[in-house]
Amino acid sequence: MAASMMHAQSKEYSLNFDSEKYTIKTAQVAGKEISFRAYENVVYVSHPVDVRYQSMNIYIPVEYYEGKNIRKYNADTAPIFLPNDVGRYMSSQAGAPIKDRRTGKDNAILVALSKGYVVASPGARGRKLTNDKAQYIGKAPAAIVDLKAAVRYLRFNDKIMPGNAEKIISNGTSAGGALSVLLGASGNQKIYHSYLNELGAAAARDDIFAVSAYCPIINLDNADAAYEWQYGHVKDYKVINLVHPGYIEIFTETLTEEQIAVQPKLAAMFPKYVNSLKLKDENGKTLTLNDKGEGTFKEYVKKFVINSANKAISEGNDLSKYSWLEFKNKKVVGLDFKTYSKEYLSRSKSAPAFDALDLSAGENNLFGDLTVDNKHFTKFSATESSVKAEMADVDIVKMMNPMNFIKNTSTQNWRIRHGAKDADTSLAISTILATTLRNHKKAVDFAMPWDIVHRGDYDLEELFEWMDKISTK
Ligand code: DHB
Repeated sequence: MAASMMHAQSKEYSLNFDSEKYTIKTAQVAGKEISFRAYENVVYVSHPVDVRYQSMNIYIPVEYYEGKNIRKYNADTAPIFLPNDVGRYMSSQAGAPIKDRRTGKDNAILVALSKGYVVASPGARGRKLTNDKAQYIGKAPAAIVDLKAAVRYLRFNDKIMPGNAEKIISNGTSAGGALSVLLGASGNQKIYHSYLNELGAAAARDDIFAVSAYCPIINLDNADAAYEWQYGHVKDYKVINLVHPGYIEIFTETLTEEQIAVQPKLAAMFPKYVNSLKLKDENGKTLTLNDKGEGTFKEYVKKFVINSANKAISEGNDLSKYSWLEFKNKKVVGLDFKTYSKEYLSRSKSAPAFDALDLSAGENNLFGDLTVDNKHFTKFSATESSVKAEMADVDIVKMMNPMNFIKNTSTQNWRIRHGAKDADTSLAISTILATTLRNHKKAVDFAMPWDIVHRGDYDLEELFEWMDKISTK
């Protein structure tokens, strides 16, 4: 072969886990020393297009090589914790056991290892990734295909690796939370097969046992309508600019005339969508909205906020300063949803929030292809578009929305958190997800924790309690 054709990554990678290729690492977690084998940068497909991202770090407590137990787990039964580090649908590398940069706390990987979990943290390609020909190689559905390939690798090697690949528990935040949900919803779906085959993914199933997701930015096809249903009366939005790591700028922008004009149109689409889902509450009562966006579904969303406020009060917080909460005997009994959304949450996006008319949203960038950087992915924005634009392929849009697959998923266990102070997507979006899952008889732990903005992994003790409970029942 001519030297010029020798691509660094045209080499074929083995899908067999090499048990001997590790280093021993130690860490202090909650005052206790832990030791584990670190298998880092393990490429999980045989024909990667970028090994920086199509690889994972695998960490295994040393006890599992010494025939010992950690708590109730051993080498055969330990669940596999699968956290991704995806944010903003950008490329992400495999995660490592470190202290959180901001808080100094043990990250989820360290906590998992200390509790006897095997950890596999996959990297994934993201929307701005290019190859040496300046082609975009991380556009949708690249990230979900990569995570599926990582799951297949773990299952393919289950016999020779400690940990139980039938107990894979995915975790992620925001775009990473969305991918975690999608991984659970779309296990083994044929629509992804050609992508997996092209990468040389292992021949194994890619369904998982459980999903944890913080503020998942999902259901992008309907998220613009949901956003205006909640924030259609708000005309200012907060822009958060990451100037450089550790320094952010926050300023307020006002929607343009053109953006204000689409708000009522999008808001009007939402009741039709909600009603088409035929959602039911715990008592079998149908959740709907009328033309004005009012109805049982709205009261249902509010109930999660009210429950969250009452939990915060029971934990000693004083919420009496919030005029939009209605109190009776020191308990919250009502919520002025409009004022809460405007004054406490406040908009964090323009309109449409996700499929921007000028293609400027991160999600437009997610749906580009090899040569086109940004596309529309909804009929609405394609029709109203203010710039010359293409529409994303319908199958690719389908592959990125977990709502399309819930009725067929075998994943039973779901934990979903959406902070009651998080305006990156409408609270309706996670409520629809949780309710749809419950209506399909899944076990769903869903809450909107009080005062929590757009972030994740803030309640690791509770997360691992849930993981222990589902893993040992
Ligand atoms: C993320 C946040 C967003 O508001 C969004 O639209 C997509 C992704 C994120 O933090 O990952």
